[in-house]
Amino acid sequence: MSIKELDQTAEAMVAAGKGILAIDESAPTIKNRLDSINTESTETSRRAYRDLLITNPGGNEYISGMILFDETIRQSTADGTPFAEALEKQGIMTGIKVDTGAKELAGHPGEKVTEGLDGLRDRLAEYKKLGAKFAKWRAVITIGEGIPSLGCIEANVHALARYASLCQEAGIVPMVEPEVLMDGDHSVELCYEVTEATLKALFNELYKQSVSLEHTILKVNMIVSGKDCSEQADVDDVAGLTINCLLNTVPASLPGIVFLSGGQSAEKATEHLNAMNATYGPLPWPLSFSYGRALQAPCLAAWQGKEENVEKAQAVLLHREKCNGEASLGKYDAASDAA
Ligand code: 13P
Repeated sequence: MSIKELDQTAEAMVAAGKGILAIDESAPTIKNRLDSINTESTETSRRAYRDLLITNPGGNEYISGMILFDETIRQSTADGTPFAEALEKQGIMTGIKVDTGAKELAGHPGEKVTEGLDGLRDRLAEYKKLGAKFAKWRAVITIGEGIPSLGCIEANVHALARYASLCQEAGIVPMVEPEVLMDGDHSVELCYEVTEATLKALFNELYKQSVSLEHTILKVNMIVSGKDCSEQADVDDVAGLTINCLLNTVPASLPGIVFLSGGQSAEKATEHLNAMNATYGPLPWPLSFSYGRALQAPCLAAWQGKEENVEKAQAVLLHREKCNGEASLGKYDAASDAA
């Protein structure tokens, strides 16, 4: 592997004022998103939607990389340019989701383990040829009655570490994503406790699998209250608890940390990121975004599956990208966003 290439990719992913746009929804998930705007999910509609996200003029000011799904990395723009090439022309790096999804974990009701290690070495070599610079693997940790179990956390972080090691061997920067879900009525304190335990287990496993931390990006949930918890932590609490949790678990040599939005509203996800960067620091790593829904939801609603709405949808996306770019520098103004 080329260390220099990994260095450059990792550093560019979290360049000042920039973050990642996640557009790697699997077939069932993109179907749900398109259903929400009464648009049938076909190869044509998925390509058209991803085209507007990928070719958005000006997006490269705030976006360092985009995470694609397997189908998308094989598709092209309307004028026939492969998406990865269209991104490269804009100075945006191509990322690829390489896990094959979270499946029921045997012997652990209500818990999941992410699959996709079989044949991964060969798939990574192919993705590299198709232009991928970084890859993503998402593990899902659910909070509930008596869960997560140690077995679930260990199975997931082991897979994350095996994946990360294979990525680095292939000259691809791994984005390791352990997501503690917001689903449920758990307290913000419990989210902290579970995220802390997961991250401690993850970095221990990355060490055991000889993963170079200098060439790994962490993608993680913020410390938030469960969606159905009657008491919701405010912006300052979320920012303070998230920073505290990361400082207690993430080695300083990591080149950067990015957050998933996980079901937060577009504005809240931006406010939380901004509060962390505006209030705390200097921190050992840049903190930025790798949002899916919090960047795409307003854009998808503006598009409605209609060609005549493409420009409007792109403007809406650009606005959210700009807001989050500012939040990654602690310079976001929530009042002007709302205006
Ligand atoms: P959300 O921001 O919608 O949570 O998606 C980010 C992502 O890539 C989840 O794996």
